[in-house]
Amino acid sequence: MKKFKTAIVGVGFIGVAHIEALRRLGNIEVVAICDQFDIEKKAKQLNVSHYYTDYKEMIEKEDLDFIHICTPNNTHYDIASYAMNKHINIVLEKPMTVTAEEAKKLLVLSKALNVTAAVNFHNRLYPATSHIKHMISNNQIGHVFSIQGVYIQDWLLYQTDYSWRLNSKTSGKTRAVADIGSHWLDLMEYMTGQKIVEVLAEFQTVYPTRKKATQPLKTFETASSEMTYDEMPIDTEDVAVITFKTNEGSLGNVYVSQMAAGKKNRIQLLISGEKASIEWSLDDLSNISVGYRDQANKVITKDQLLMPEVQSLIDYPTGHMEGFPDAFKQNFKNIYYSSTHPDALKRYAGFEDGLRQMVLNDKIYESANDRKWVKIDD
Ligand SMILES: NC(=O)c1ccc[n+]([C@@H]2O[C@H](COP(=O)([O-])OP(=O)(O)OC[C@H]3O[C@@H](n4cnc5c(N)ncnc54)[C@H](O)[C@@H]3O)[C@@H](O)[C@H]2O)c1
Repeated sequence: MKKFKTAIVGVGFIGVAHIEALRRLGNIEVVAICDQFDIEKKAKQLNVSHYYTDYKEMIEKEDLDFIHICTPNNTHYDIASYAMNKHINIVLEKPMTVTAEEAKKLLVLSKALNVTAAVNFHNRLYPATSHIKHMISNNQIGHVFSIQGVYIQDWLLYQTDYSWRLNSKTSGKTRAVADIGSHWLDLMEYMTGQKIVEVLAEFQTVYPTRKKATQPLKTFETASSEMTYDEMPIDTEDVAVITFKTNEGSLGNVYVSQMAAGKKNRIQLLISGEKASIEWSLDDLSNISVGYRDQANKVITKDQLLMPEVQSLIDYPTGHMEGFPDAFKQNFKNIYYSSTHPDALKRYAGFEDGLRQMVLNDKIYESANDRKWVKIDD
């Protein structure tokens, strides 16, 4: 098995999850990390011997096969284009960039330089979501005509919750949509094989200003009453409701919120076809609910996910949950394997899929801003 040398740029919440997942694969060595904050401490905690504050220096000094970019969204373009120009394969966190124009340029560059270029839409890599994709493409629920769902969290519920994600300069012009809505939209299009062709969106920003703690907080860390705050204007949405139509005539709707109290990270989809409906939720991620009109409804459990394409995503027996870190592991396994086996079944999102989400993001923003249906041209 080929051994790979990898570095991570951005070792915050998700960078650490990348390192853990990569190490579980066995054939990937995380040789270096880069962060502008507390890098020596992070390197010690994570047991990585080479560490940097400047990704360019790291790329010059290390002999890398892959780089994982886990920094705030507004840095993705510069880091990815620099690394690709050094012929390094890329795993880029979502959203791909802050604008569709940047994403398009990265896609063109990745093709010209023939590097493996992936975006971490890891929700595709759960056994259940993969199984649903195959059920739909095998016509097991008939023609799909409507799709509903939510992606809801509560970590930005209080006015004292603040993160770089709330500022359009670092996040891009949407926040909830780019940050979590993009996961739902990518998953929905991946599973159903349908493409959104028109959107109507409405945004809500609950707090026009938020209180940013003057001392640094980690992603998802809650501020306390003893802290002092700066008052910050908010120019991104907390909540979005998106209605859409697809190329196969489906009507759909998704509710995205980072302020739904008690809902920590719920992704849910209800896909209605002419023969049956399918419901899946991240809260119960091993199981798939199938609804019928004329027979008993059923729950497909992990031991019944027997399709060969799905079996290869299962590393533990039924009753042993495979969750968020496992989807990362499976995604990276597929990306790295595909980099040396171009004919392998490609499950991961490539830069074309990352660009697709950036285009949808722009159209959703335009619709919410202009308060009208907007067509997706490509
Ligand atoms: N796939 C997922 O489910 C998922 C989940 C969370 C975050 N993300 C994405 O991952 C990215 C990072 O999010 P996060 O929650 O880990 O953020 P974070 O704020 O917790 O971590 C970002 C880290 O990047 C570092 N950094 C910033 N600029 C840098 C630079 N120029 N060079 C080196 N380091 C730099 C920061 O110091 C910080 O440690 C975002 O694009 C986010 O959307 C994806």
